[in-house]
Amino acid sequence: MKNLKNKVVVITGAGSGIGRSLAIKMHNNGAKLALNDFNKQSLDETLSIIGNIDQIYTEVFDVSKKEEFYQFSKNVVNHFKKVDVVINNAGITNGSITAVDTTIESYEKVLGVNLWGMIYGTLAFMPELRKQNESSVVNISSIWGLLGSPYQSAYSTSKFGIRGFTEALAAEELCNNTGVAVTSVHPGGVKTNIVRNIEGQNLTELQLKKLDTHFPTTADKTADKIIYAIKKKKSRIVIGPDAKFMYRLSRFSERITMKFLVNWAKKMMKI
Ligand code: NAI
Repeated sequence: MKNLKNKVVVITGAGSGIGRSLAIKMHNNGAKLALNDFNKQSLDETLSIIGNIDQIYTEVFDVSKKEEFYQFSKNVVNHFKKVDVVINNAGITNGSITAVDTTIESYEKVLGVNLWGMIYGTLAFMPELRKQNESSVVNISSIWGLLGSPYQSAYSTSKFGIRGFTEALAAEELCNNTGVAVTSVHPGGVKTNIVRNIEGQNLTELQLKKLDTHFPTTADKTADKIIYAIKKKKSRIVIGPDAKFMYRLSRFSERITMKFLVNWAKKMMKI
């Protein structure tokens, strides 16, 4: 997809971080936007940053609710009469906790938003995407969809699920020549509100600032890479120096990667 001008682009979780940067940059590329977030206030802030909202359709809902997502897809198609790009970006994490101590409710919540939200978003829009000569589905996984993160088992499980679904779909769409390019996105640490948005999060401002120093990439840079991947029809992108390092290490040696992860986890738990 060389040009995004007049393309209809759906972005979930557009009220903050990577989703907000994507919305602003897609708008600057001339795209028409259909934006979602479950936080109305932050979605409104994104709209006020963009300023000109003539070509923007918004809906506030929780992506883990199937009926609401399918209704959104119908409303977007009624509004714009087509869809070209769907970016399943909305996501949460549940903080640092061991796999064994994570409650079933917590696994269900994280998988509901991150994994089911992505599956609903892909399947609900696929019939429309397949009507176009070329279109795109982008699912935001993580470096923790390529490597299991200690103290992030719910998050890692959801992000591995996203990668599995997305890679299977990418191969099928190519196999059937549908014209739908499918991309799995794997950023490392990105400075956004993801940690601040953890339910019941009780880190001090100092701890949050220390954590920020471990997130080397910005949301703007991440959005640029995602837009490049859409234009180049890439099936997988790994974003950020930390993610690239860990990914390379994991392909080099499983034992050294495990040692690295243990040391990394010890460092993070001291914050
Ligand atoms: P963020 O917290 O700044 O933004 C996420 C947005 O999604 C928020 O506006 C939030 O209100 C919205 N959201 C959360 N749950 C929702 C739901 N159920 N329905 C609709 N909207 C919902 O976080 P960030 O970092 O911009 O996250 C975007 C995506 O990037 C997520 O999928 C995240 O897992 C992924 N990611 C983030 C990384 C990071 O270091 N920040 C690294 C790798 C992946």
